[in-house]
Amino acid sequence: MKKIENISLKKEINRKKNIIFLLKSKKKSLPTQYLYDDVGSKLFEKICETEEYYLTRTEYKILNSNSFDIIKASSAEELFEFGSGSSKKTKTLILSALKKNKYLTYFSFDISSEALYMSYDELSKISENLNVRLLKGNFNLDISRIEASKKKRLYLFLGSTLGNFNNKVAINFLQNISNLMNKEDSFLLGVDKVKDEKIINLAYNDKRGITKKFNKNILNVINKEYKLNFNKNNFLHNTIYNSEKSQIEMYLKSTALQSIKLPNNENLNIKKGEKILTEISRKFSEETLERLFAKSNLKVIESYTDEKKYYSLYLLKIKKYL
Ligand SMILES: C[S@@+](CC[C@H](N)C(=O)[O-])C[C@H]1O[C@@H](n2cnc3c(N)ncnc32)[C@H](O)[C@@H]1O
Repeated sequence: MKKIENISLKKEINRKKNIIFLLKSKKKSLPTQYLYDDVGSKLFEKICETEEYYLTRTEYKILNSNSFDIIKASSAEELFEFGSGSSKKTKTLILSALKKNKYLTYFSFDISSEALYMSYDELSKISENLNVRLLKGNFNLDISRIEASKKKRLYLFLGSTLGNFNNKVAINFLQNISNLMNKEDSFLLGVDKVKDEKIINLAYNDKRGITKKFNKNILNVINKEYKLNFNKNNFLHNTIYNSEKSQIEMYLKSTALQSIKLPNNENLNIKKGEKILTEISRKFSEETLERLFAKSNLKVIESYTDEKKYYSLYLLKIKKYL
């Protein structure tokens, strides 16, 4: 099994304090990254295969139809993917890049070891000319630890993961990417678009209940990490589409009055009906994206979508060099 390179410089400081703060807040929440332990990463893969989760198959179709154009337009000599997950969809880009380059390095960057191992399993047998590097880190904290390359790099951020960030975090992330990019580098971003609410709601409430398991698993992760006593049977999977903010909000809703022991040994009462936010998933309009790109010194050089315009991929470059 290929070795994972841990690029995190520092342990996330004040992590415990942050969890206590988030759980004691009037609007309770947990950091979304905790959805992705070994179990969560496997469950996410299953979500991607559900009938209701149109995002993955739509993004895959767009990538598959345009992979050679994307490689040509970006002149990519190296690929670097943030939040790579299993890298299943990226395979099509890698195959096109290998037609253009004799040797290729693909960097798989994720917070979850399981995701990195899945990525290696998916890609390692493609070609002996493909070098797969597994980097473990947090894309909100560790981007400054990534070394730029002399090769023309194509950075990837797929799976609509940008939608998990509120506006401030999204701008910060995009600015970090644009600071990391050289003149010749490109960035391919995959985002989910605003559409009929019914279609969106179904995607986060699959009938096999996999998203429900994925959501509740965050409590196992938090219990393990901080020695807490959440009982996942006392919570319901609950999602709403917030049309004002164009985002899915995924919650765990308490079914009873319950008491949780926090990491500082304080008791926290959670009332019946109270909700803990575990994830947002934003759906973007062209206008919102334009504003985000403008604030991040990024310019669209090409965009790709599906026939229903459910999902879009944007190929971006640094604006000041164009
Ligand atoms: C929505 S999934 C997308 C996975 C894959 N790119 C796809 O398109 O199917 C988000 C991915 O980001 C990873 N992730 C979540 N939070 C992260 C963080 N703070 N730093 C690095 N990776 C993170 C998860 O482990 C997961 O693989």
